[in-house]
Amino acid sequence: MKKKQVLFVCLGNICRSPSAEAVFTALVEKAGLTDKIECDSAGTAGYHAGEPADARMQRHAIRRGYHLTSRSRKFMASRDFDRFDYIIGMDDQNVWDLKCQARHEHDLKKIYKMTDFATEGDYDSVPDPYYGGEAGFEMVLDILEDACAGLLEQMRRTL
Ligand code: 4NP
Repeated sequence: MKKKQVLFVCLGNICRSPSAEAVFTALVEKAGLTDKIECDSAGTAGYHAGEPADARMQRHAIRRGYHLTSRSRKFMASRDFDRFDYIIGMDDQNVWDLKCQARHEHDLKKIYKMTDFATEGDYDSVPDPYYGGEAGFEMVLDILEDACAGLLEQMRRTL
């Protein structure tokens, strides 16, 4: 069976989506599902392409045991819509930007928002922490830990 492929998408691919990738990877490993599920991340903008994750985001993530090892890359519609089963934006703008690039109905059906999978908390997006303070990075991780668990739970039902 082909592995299910998940792509997490934010704006710059240096804060939220690389964190989602690390949090989800840890959950998949813990659940023993690495032979069934794979994930990656990308940004709708390419201005940080090739860079490692933001140093502040890395610092907060490592305190919870997540190593952000991926390098930023731009979302590429012609390749990524075919390759991935779930394409998950962090906020409404990310989702809008993804939908604008969808080539047909089949692509559109793959697009979700991260908080669609959240089970607790009173939020409807993963807020951009880039221009804010330290608390914003903690909030990103809090939301991602909840929403990634919800995503894995939903995916398990279809594996
Ligand atoms: P991300 O955060 O989308 O979570 O990676 C941002 C990173 C960079 C910028 C904005 C948001 N920027 O404007 O450079």
